[in-house]
This record gives sequence, C-alpha cells and structure tokens, in this order.
Amino acid sequence: MIIAGLSAAVILTLSVPTNSSMALILSWIVLLVAVITTVSVMLPEVKGAPWVPTSSKIVNKVLAIAELKPGEVLYDLGSGDGRIVIAAARDFGVRAVGIEIDPFRVFYSRLRISLLHLQDKARIVRANFFDIQLGEADVVVLYLLQQTNNKLQRKLERELIKPNYRVVSVVWKFEGWEVIRCDDKEMIYVYKPRSETKSA
Ligand SMILES: C[S@@+](CC[C@H](N)C(=O)[O-])C[C@H]1O[C@@H](n2cnc3c(N)ncnc32)[C@H](O)[C@@H]1O
Repeated sequence: MIIAGLSAAVILTLSVPTNSSMALILSWIVLLVAVITTVSVMLPEVKGAPWVPTSSKIVNKVLAIAELKPGEVLYDLGSGDGRIVIAAARDFGVRAVGIEIDPFRVFYSRLRISLLHLQDKARIVRANFFDIQLGEADVVVLYLLQQTNNKLQRKLERELIKPNYRVVSVVWKFEGWEVIRCDDKEMIYVYKPRSETKSA
C-alpha cells in the first residue's frame, strides 16, 4: 500500500508537462503530501497503532487516575503530538518521556515543549517503543490497540522495576493483570503487572 501510494505520486509528478511551472509545483506538493501521509499514517499503523489523539478531558483523567507524585517518571508509549507528556510535566510535576515513531509528530511535539519551556521536564524520543528500555518509568501510559498491548505485555512485565510502578491503558486491556483502579465510563485502566511473571 505504501509503495502503491508513493508510485502513484511519482507517476503523477513525472507525467506533468515540465513547461508549466505552476503544474510542476503542484505535482511536487502532491508528492510531498503523499510522503507525509505515508510516513504519518501508514508507518504508525504498521508498527503499533494509528494516531488518534486523546481528548483533553481524557488526558486529565488519565493523569489523575495514575496518581502521579512529584519526581516520578512517566513514559507515554506512542506519544502522538505530546499532549500527555506536556500535561504531565506542566501540571503534575513529573518528568515525562514520550516515545513516538512518526517524525512529523516528534517534530511538532518537541516544538511545543520548547515553546512552553518544558525541556527540563519533558522530552520526546523518536523511536519504536519496542526498542526502548522502560526501566526508569514509574508510570507507563498507552493508548494503542489490543494486539499492540498484547505484544508489549511481556516487555512491560520484564522491564518495569520501580517499587510503585503502574501501567495506565486507555480503551485496551491487559489479560491476566490486576486492575488496581479504573474509570469504566472512559475506559481507562490502571494495572500493576503480574509479579509472578516478573520473577519467572
Ligand atoms: C492512538 S495514538 C495515541 C497518541 C497519544 N498517546 C495520545 O493519547 O494522544 C498512538 C500513537 O502511537 C504511535 N505509534 C504507533 N506505533 C508506534 C511504535 N511502534 N513506536 C512508537 N510510536 C508508535 C503513533 O504514531 C501514534 O502517534
């Protein structure tokens, strides 16, 4: 699908008569939009979950139900435009780290962090969250897909080692973990990953 989209844009670009500078500019814009769409829509979807932003009401509920304490470290796996990371650092006094695969959203969220002068407390790492060590996190937030939660489950069990670690998942659940708090209406679940599995 990615290759088909890019090929269509390239063919369109090459088929435009080069004596028309307006048409040439237009075709380059089409090509640029195709590249951005490919990277921004398809890459996240293939790697874990499409971008669906959390509303500000849900952001506040997620951060409240996490019961964050000043000085804790929060990771948002798939941080999108950085809204959870920014709100956590700005309003809850924690250090917040977003992991995001889409370079355009990484750029945008880093820009917002620097405009808000939050660089000391918030940062965005451009990476695939499956490749990132989570050991320094007290709280991990996820709003992904069920199959991505399933794939991350063992990694979270292995890598979360802080004494009071917890996982907050929006919409999607984790089978077999103890739910320690939840907001059923908004589908926000706070988990303590299973300790038997951690020591196995
Ligand atoms: C549903 S959105 C959630 C965005 C943000 N956490 C929020 O609540 O507004 C999922 C995000 O995960 C990112 N994503 C998907 N797979 C990823 C991966 N393997 N590594 C890093 N980010 C990923 C997507 O680009 C997208 O921004």
